[in-house]
Amino acid sequence: MVCLGNICRSPIAEGILRQKLLDQNIEGVSTDSAGTSSYHIGEAPDARMRQTAKSNGVNIDDLKARQFVAQDYDEFDLIYAMDSSNYNNMIALARNEEDKSKVKLILNEVNPGKNQAVPDPYYGGDEGFQHVFDLLDVATDVIIDKYVNG
Ligand code: 4NP
Repeated sequence: MVCLGNICRSPIAEGILRQKLLDQNIEGVSTDSAGTSSYHIGEAPDARMRQTAKSNGVNIDDLKARQFVAQDYDEFDLIYAMDSSNYNNMIALARNEEDKSKVKLILNEVNPGKNQAVPDPYYGGDEGFQHVFDLLDVATDVIIDKYVNG
């Protein structure tokens, strides 16, 4: 799960997916998140995102921001961008076509071909964080159905 800062959208995407895998007793799937920027390396998720997570039954307090690197293409099969800027930044780091094929816009799993963004909640009000949670709650259901149960 990849966004810009790795403190708002991608950690909650990882946290929701991780919680669902646990709740559904699904083993053998590893989850992670990263940011395309270096701005927040080493930081915990944004306090507003951690609070929204908790009020929805998900705990992301243990996560720490890191930057996406080309070696991530060796570690992961599916790499989800939150918006087209994150997508383009990762494609620019791809070493070959196989790397590029791993990168997807996450909301295209819900609305194929629409190229919708998970909006960056960082500079907005608290309601933006719940909206991000709701979008990613739906997207992670689709991902589990498609790639784990499918
Ligand atoms: P994220 O949100 O990409 O969802 O983690 C942001 C966090 C920080 C900044 C931008 C977006 N920033 O510019 O510091």
